[in-house]
Amino acid sequence: MNLPSQKALVPFVSVANMMALVNTAGIEPVLRDLAGYIEADFKRWPDFDKTPRVASHSADGVIELMPTADADNYGFKYVNGHPKNMKEGYQTVTAFGVLSSVANGYPILLTEMTVLTALRTAATSALVGKYLAPKGARVMAMIGNGAQCEFQALAFKAICGIDTVRLYDVDPKATEKALCNLAGSGLTVIPCRSGEDAIEGAQIITTCTADKQYATILTDNMIGSGVHINAIGGDCPGKTELHRDILLRSDIFVEYPPQTRIEGEIQQLEDNHPVTELWQVMRGEAPGRSDPRQITLFDSVGFAIEDFSALRFIHDRIRDTTFFDLLDILADPDDPRDLFGMVRRAA
Ligand SMILES: NC(=O)c1ccc[n+]([C@@H]2O[C@H](COP(=O)([O-])OP(=O)(O)OC[C@H]3O[C@@H](n4cnc5c(N)ncnc54)[C@H](O)[C@@H]3O)[C@@H](O)[C@H]2O)c1
Repeated sequence: MNLPSQKALVPFVSVANMMALVNTAGIEPVLRDLAGYIEADFKRWPDFDKTPRVASHSADGVIELMPTADADNYGFKYVNGHPKNMKEGYQTVTAFGVLSSVANGYPILLTEMTVLTALRTAATSALVGKYLAPKGARVMAMIGNGAQCEFQALAFKAICGIDTVRLYDVDPKATEKALCNLAGSGLTVIPCRSGEDAIEGAQIITTCTADKQYATILTDNMIGSGVHINAIGGDCPGKTELHRDILLRSDIFVEYPPQTRIEGEIQQLEDNHPVTELWQVMRGEAPGRSDPRQITLFDSVGFAIEDFSALRFIHDRIRDTTFFDLLDILADPDDPRDLFGMVRRAA
């Protein structure tokens, strides 16, 4: 049998290798380094091709493709969101992605992105928190204690310096799991009986629930002045977490308005409701938090550039390591025009 040539091989990072990479480096250093890649790419936002993600909706969930490119690389992520999955023993969100060379279109990385999405979502949230959370914020409420939860808590510890997380989930088993996973993390972790209880004394409020409906995880009367809300779970048409009145009292910060207006909390508002783009805040071209009493809201939906940053990060990180396999996924006939001959000779 003919062995594939070097040109046929693409580095592939499996879930096992992603976990080994993260555990070897340590999750907090990984979150910090990844946030650095994301920040660098937000700061060069105009360099990217941008489009709202391509979403295929069904009664139970959504499957999405998230492409973007700069002059050198093209990246995309395949990701699903199926809130019912968890009860059936499947992940709500799974993903994989590809990074390619723009010069010849050849993929240069294929990787699992289920773990990587949790890392990049948390790193993005905490990066945004660094710009928008009240100064000296130490306590975060974490409502929704599913797959993303511990990543969020540790990212806010590593990047924003929180020392306490107050957990709440409608399912006490989820809170118990997070409590157990965060033991020994250096965070003070407090299980709470309700959303109201969880936000008590918190300067940062993260909502990270999964439900295929207009949910009201936070009601208007729960939110006082001077907090930062990191709203993760409202990320599809008809799937939101905050009462509309909170939005009307908040300064709203978004990734990419054309996508967030379709998918984010702001789908509840008029199309022209003012929002601030985060890349402009990071470049110092738009104000972030300007008043300690202000309510800032990161209406997070997850944008392709964050995945591109994550792909770049992994591509750089696996160099000179054993955290990848080489997969024979590209045809490489001896004569580029003789694809047919290559197939026939393999018979
Ligand atoms: N913005 C982004 O970039 C981004 C990225 C990844 C995931 N997400 C979204 O984040 C959400 C969480 O993802 P996950 O992978 O952790 O999901 P998950 O299913 O693992 O966990 C969701 C948790 O929310 C809890 N929950 C549901 N309704 C609740 C309520 N009313 N009050 C309190 N808790 C409630 C569930 O019991 C569950 O433990 C999903 O909606 C997902 O689509 C967003």
